[in-house]
Amino acid sequence: MSNLLLSREQIATRVGEMGQQIQTDYAGREPHLVGVLKGACTFLTDLSRAIDLPLTMDFLAVSSYGASTKTSGEVRLTKDLDQGLDGRDLLVVEDIVDTGLTLNYLLNVLRARGPRSLKVAILLSKPSRRLVEVSVDYVGFTIEDRFVIGYGLDFNEKFRNLPDIEIYDGP
Ligand code: IMP
Ligand code: MG
Repeated sequence: MSNLLLSREQIATRVGEMGQQIQTDYAGREPHLVGVLKGACTFLTDLSRAIDLPLTMDFLAVSSYGASTKTSGEVRLTKDLDQGLDGRDLLVVEDIVDTGLTLNYLLNVLRARGPRSLKVAILLSKPSRRLVEVSVDYVGFTIEDRFVIGYGLDFNEKFRNLPDIEIYDGP
């Protein structure tokens, strides 16, 4: 396992800490967790179980418009939320922030829907790749510029089920 970056134990410990922090910060409120499919699914299900508060969940899915619009970061919502955000304490849950373009676009879309508050929890951050600054409230791990798979993260839709996070360096 020379490609191991973050073991399942390291992930579980950190996700537990993040849940505790969120629980403290949202005491007396009811966070509305919005997960970005599909990558954030594994993280969201673990994180939510580390938060001992009444909470709700919803999901959306995005796909980028393709290489030509990559720099604009424009993304298409391929699945929208089931519920509105008006007056909710919205916590967006994402797997990884790389250039930041996807999250930046998404946050603008969601902010326009009138949540009472908006915070962001991500498992991984690759700050060296950032093209646009996005404000993130909870970060699991800051990592180097390496392509990673596992714990929800894919390469060509595969490897999402790996329990650890590994560096992918080809088949
Ligand atoms: P961004 O718009 O460049 O921040 O891209 C974010 C999206 O790219 C994430 O939600 C992931 O789906 C994907 N992504 C970025 N880096 C990785 C990686 O190392 N492994 C798997 N997916 C990644
Ligand atoms: Mg993603």
